[in-house]
Amino acid sequence: MRYLDIGTTPRISRIGLGTWQFGAREWGYGEDYARQQARDIVRRAVDLGVTLFDTAEMYGFGRSERILGEALGDRRESVFLATKLFPVLPVAPVVEQRAVASAGRLGTRRIDLYQVHWPNPLVSDGTIMRGMSTLQRVGLVGEVGVSNYPLARWQAAEKALGGRVLSNQVRYSLVDRAPEQDLLPFAAKAGRVVIAYSPLAQGLLSGRYDRANRPANRVRTGNPLFLPENLDRVGELIGALRDVAGAHDATPAQVALAWVIRHPAVTAIPGASSVEQLESNVAAAEIELSDAEYAALSAAADRFHPVTGRAAAPAMLRARLRR
Ligand SMILES: NC(=O)c1ccc[n+]([C@@H]2O[C@H](COP(=O)([O-])OP(=O)(O)OC[C@H]3O[C@@H](n4cnc5c(N)ncnc54)[C@H](OP(=O)(O)O)[C@@H]3O)[C@@H](O)[C@H]2O)c1
Repeated sequence: MRYLDIGTTPRISRIGLGTWQFGAREWGYGEDYARQQARDIVRRAVDLGVTLFDTAEMYGFGRSERILGEALGDRRESVFLATKLFPVLPVAPVVEQRAVASAGRLGTRRIDLYQVHWPNPLVSDGTIMRGMSTLQRVGLVGEVGVSNYPLARWQAAEKALGGRVLSNQVRYSLVDRAPEQDLLPFAAKAGRVVIAYSPLAQGLLSGRYDRANRPANRVRTGNPLFLPENLDRVGELIGALRDVAGAHDATPAQVALAWVIRHPAVTAIPGASSVEQLESNVAAAEIELSDAEYAALSAAADRFHPVTGRAAAPAMLRARLRR
């Protein structure tokens, strides 16, 4: 495993583990996964040197936090535990109460990274960060983070906190490259971190899915990237991933992760539906892409133009009716 060098204890692994899948019905992995496999995934991740574990109070309505906390057990001190506040009415006292509740579910006395899940359009970061500041003062929270924040609001949050807002967790993958515009340059310059979520585009970049074999769970039926049209269109990019994967004795998913974390300010938090996937994702941290490989993948990504937004609405409806 490789780690970020930004003064945290423990250091943050370049590949972490996302745990939205744990106990969340929308992923449809079932009870056996929630009760057993999720725990096996966490324990194996710790064995393999993963330190960054990401959850949120809203994943499975608290179940993900519980599963993660129980699975970590007495190994909790060796990891960098991150959770998120869902910012409905996030005035300072509510922020404080919600952190206490998350820590309780996680079975910990310290949340290493407490993130604001989404920017609240009505409540200013001043109010939220007052709560965060109190939490840091009493030691319940180590670092503060945000998620889905545009750059200006990330910087405003830092001003309001009067200290570093360590990270911004955003969607970043070969098919979602918006963070390259301003978030990544800022993070690299200021010593901050971009935590890449959906780094495999929810499994699209594994190359496992096509028009005849589409994933059935609610998360992905609601994601236009999995429309038959887009599964056709992504074929060239998957082909480019396969080419590079061949040269590294790797899989397309591993190469997709290696591409994401090639930027020095990025760490990725793929979810996993099995221990094997977790192992494979962890091994991706060791893949060194050459400049030419990185450029070829980026160019193939540039040529992928999925049908999204309004244009995707009729196809989304048709796809749902056909199921
Ligand atoms: N802050 C936010 O707003 C936000 C939003 C979304 C996610 N997140 C966080 O980011 C984490 C990851 O994002 P995500 O779950 O949306 O997407 P992702 O990590 O891109 O995709 C995860 C899915 O990809 C497939 N997969 C994983 N490893 C694989 C491998 N080695 N080979 C083949 N397939 C593999 C699995 O699905 P199948 O096996 O079923 O195909 C898995 O459930 C979440 O768990 C969550 O912690 C945060």
